[in-house]
Amino acid sequence: MNATIPQRSAKQNPVELYDLQLQALAGIARTLSREQQIDELLEQVLAILHNDLGLLHGLVTISDPEHGALQIGAIHTDSEAVAQACEGVRYRSGEGVIGNVLKHGNSVVLGRISADPRFLDRLALYDLEMPFIAVPIKNPEGNTIGVLAAQPDCRADEHMPARTRLLEIVANLLAQTVRLVVNIEDGRDAADERDELRREVRGKYGFENMVVGHTPTMRRVFDQIRRVAKWNSTVLVLGESGTGKELIASAIHYNSPRAHRSFVRLNCAALPETLLESELFGHEKGAFTGAVKQRKGRFEQADGGTLFLDEIGEISPMFQAKLLRVLQEGEFERVGGNQTVRVNVRIVAATNRDLESEVEKGKFREDLYYRLNVMAIRIPPLRERTADIPELAEFLLSKIGRQQGRPLTITDSAIRLLMSHRWPGNVRELENCLERSAIMSEDGTITRDVVSLTGVDNESPPLAAPLPEVNLADETLDDRERVIAALEQAGWVQAKAARLLGMTPRQIAYRIQTLNIHMRKI
Ligand SMILES: Nc1ncnc2c1ncn2[C@@H]1O[C@H](COP(=O)(O)OP(=O)(O)OP(=O)(O)O)[C@@H](O)[C@H]1O
Ligand SMILES: [Mg+2]
Repeated sequence: MNATIPQRSAKQNPVELYDLQLQALAGIARTLSREQQIDELLEQVLAILHNDLGLLHGLVTISDPEHGALQIGAIHTDSEAVAQACEGVRYRSGEGVIGNVLKHGNSVVLGRISADPRFLDRLALYDLEMPFIAVPIKNPEGNTIGVLAAQPDCRADEHMPARTRLLEIVANLLAQTVRLVVNIEDGRDAADERDELRREVRGKYGFENMVVGHTPTMRRVFDQIRRVAKWNSTVLVLGESGTGKELIASAIHYNSPRAHRSFVRLNCAALPETLLESELFGHEKGAFTGAVKQRKGRFEQADGGTLFLDEIGEISPMFQAKLLRVLQEGEFERVGGNQTVRVNVRIVAATNRDLESEVEKGKFREDLYYRLNVMAIRIPPLRERTADIPELAEFLLSKIGRQQGRPLTITDSAIRLLMSHRWPGNVRELENCLERSAIMSEDGTITRDVVSLTGVDNESPPLAAPLPEVNLADETLDDRERVIAALEQAGWVQAKAARLLGMTPRQIAYRIQTLNIHMRKI
């Protein structure tokens, strides 16, 4: 958080102010078009208001219908302590100046904060002798969905209306972004929904920052996602367990025109058949014991959006027939009902089974297979794209580091060890391995030894794919890394590694011992 307070002349000339405001607005529009997480975007907008226009302590609150309150979405302050204290602060509708803007939907301009009894100073952030402006953020229907507030760095003067107008324009620009965070639909678990919307917001700005990979096969997968996302075609995502099928399914949704509607997932293998049916199609009141009221199924919840049917290869023949009908006709009845429900849902299905051979064996209906297999995206197993491992490891470690609240780094020899593993559990296994390594690493550095403690070392046979060549003469390599690299290149045959390093076998044995290098089994 950068909070250098700009020096402003006491009297500002209107042309100069106008110019500054236009420049700041251009900067804000540019910022909002960036592909970034929403809280970062909001913070950057507030930083522009602060640095370029002297509108200090900017604050964006976002309405939280679940609690009938406003919650702080972003704040610009030079105090980390204040920022943290703000985390849990909520304003109820009508409460304080901010709550008042939420309730009435009008801007509030105070010449001096301390003169207004409504001002609660809950954040202990503001200069009580200075002015304060709070403006509503509204959705296209005209409902207030948030509040933008800031404190000008000079006493109230004739430019207050211009500053207020500027904040109102910024609030308008923010509305689109903020709208994505609220937009709660009926009947959904609010917490789930919020997580999903967060993911949606992330997804909205492309999938390059959530799905990692640069090998040709993965680039082809990305290309397929990009092409297929904009249509309503059914997509079948194929890949071994842990290859990222669910991630790809959500990337398709969030890059499609349906991104602003629900992404609903259902694991077909997780439920017994009768429950699966009511889960998917919903049920009428009294359809069975316990059905005390009508309930919408996942198909209806996903109306206008995408339904992700995970582990589709596990469903029974009877259920296959039911699903086929919905896919063909786009309609169904709720369990215990006879009213036909029509929905507009895009289906993405996934399986780690070889559906084609299931069809040949008569276990999976051929007609359903062709319905699902309009477009198939095949995700290669991790062992076929080991060149992605360094980038994946960095990405996953920064994710784990955020959870642990500390930076994590990984050494090159650890990366090479990861690249030599076969990863039967694919990216999920890599993620788990790195998480375990991070837990075991006291100083946040993941070394080869830490990784090998997770069991990755006892691997046999090693991968056929060649490891990246290490230049043993590289000056920046430390001694230990150099010996490990030589051992790797020599297939862990000490005498051979010694030759690579120009050492005698005795010398390398001594190094291995003093550098405490754990020999890999060969
Ligand atoms: N290319 C990738 N980039 C970044 N993260 C990835 C990538 N592929 C997978 N992951 C991560 O790996 C984990 C497993 O991915 P996901 O759940 O999508 O796999 P899956 O194929 O659905 O697995 P399963 O068959 O076990 O259900 C997730 O945490 C996911 O975010
Ligand atoms: Mg999955």
